[in-house]
This record gives sequence, C-alpha cells and structure tokens, in this order.
Amino acid sequence: MVFCRRGGPRAPAGLPVAMGAAGAVPPAADKKGLGIVTTASSADHPTRRDFLFVATGAAAVVGAAATVWPFIDQMNPDAATIAAGAPIEVDLTPIAEGQDIKVFWRGKPIYISHRTKKQIEEARSVPLSSLPDPQTDEARVKSGHDQWLVVIGICTHLGCIPIAHEGNYDGFFCPCHGSQYDTSGRIRQGPAPANLAVPPYQFVSDTKIQIG
Ligand code: FES
Repeated sequence: MVFCRRGGPRAPAGLPVAMGAAGAVPPAADKKGLGIVTTASSADHPTRRDFLFVATGAAAVVGAAATVWPFIDQMNPDAATIAAGAPIEVDLTPIAEGQDIKVFWRGKPIYISHRTKKQIEEARSVPLSSLPDPQTDEARVKSGHDQWLVVIGICTHLGCIPIAHEGNYDGFFCPCHGSQYDTSGRIRQGPAPANLAVPPYQFVSDTKIQIG
C-alpha cells in the first residue's frame, strides 16, 4: 500500500506506485515508518522530509531484496552461476554426424554442428574472394576437430535466430530477411553483413567442449 506524508486523498487502488496521487498516512503506518514513499504529484516540489521518506522506502526495498536473494541463490546456484556467464561443458557424444544441437550460453543460442565430410569439403572448396566476409573454414574450427562447428546462432543482420540445415548452402537460414550461411556459418547470401560469430570455446577431451 502506498501513502504520502504530505496529506491529501489516498492513492486510488490499482495505480502504480510512481503514478499514485498524494495520500494520508494512517497513524499505525506513520508510527512505524513503513511503506512510505513519495508520489509523482508530491515529487513536483520535494522537501527534505520527502527525500528522507523516499530514502527510507528505498532502503526497505533494498533490504528486502538483500534478504530474499541468498535464499534464491541457495536454491539454484548452478542456474545463477550459468546466468552470470560461467563456462558450460557440452558432451558431444550423442550428436550424430550430420546433426546439430542448440545449447544456451550467457543467454545466447549456440549451434554445435557435427559436420559430414561432404559439408567440410563444401566449406573448404569455396573461393575466399566470393565470400562477403572472407574467412577460411580452418580458421573457424579447432584444428584436429574439423568436423565440429560451433557458432553463435544469432543472425548478424538484425539478430534473428537462423534455422540449421536450411537454405541453399546446407548451413543456416534466417527466415527474417532471407540471409543464408554455409556449413562454416559464413554469410553467403542476403542482407547479413558478417559470418555467424564463433564463441570462445575449447576441447577439454575428444568428446567434450567447454564454451566460455
Ligand atoms: S535478421 Fe536475419 S536476415 Fe535479417
């Protein structure tokens, strides 16, 4: 419930706190100093008293959040850590040749493609001069693990999520405006100006990568 120290009618029920009209404080709430925040109308001419009340309300909110957070944090530490950007490990064993999977790292979709020999050959037979954003396939994968392509699944045009194994190049197709990427995630056609980005990652074993 929202009250204002400066008198006047109570805020109409349902109004957001910041938009409420000035209102009177019931004696009980006033004594305890609880729930006191200023409103949009009283903030037009703030006084030192108003500032103190706002500061009190803000401190109460921060205090409550600080109290609640440790409980949330204890309930789900892994999710919190991952959301904060911690590296993730991905087991590649279940991904058959010719398949792609999508995982999330730092809230971004990451495509991991287990490329076939044919897909690798196609990516490597393209003249660099024909690419809008020239980059060799070798530079986009890890040496000795050429069958694995790992890219951030965000179109470099306006940020849509492309679809794997679609389009003219058997790579990625963005349905938003028709950008097409090849089996190396390089832009080949459409308005996207750059290749799909490769996230930081490394092989921690022959069948496992760590992203981040
Ligand atoms: S966002 Fe992908 S083509 Fe426009």
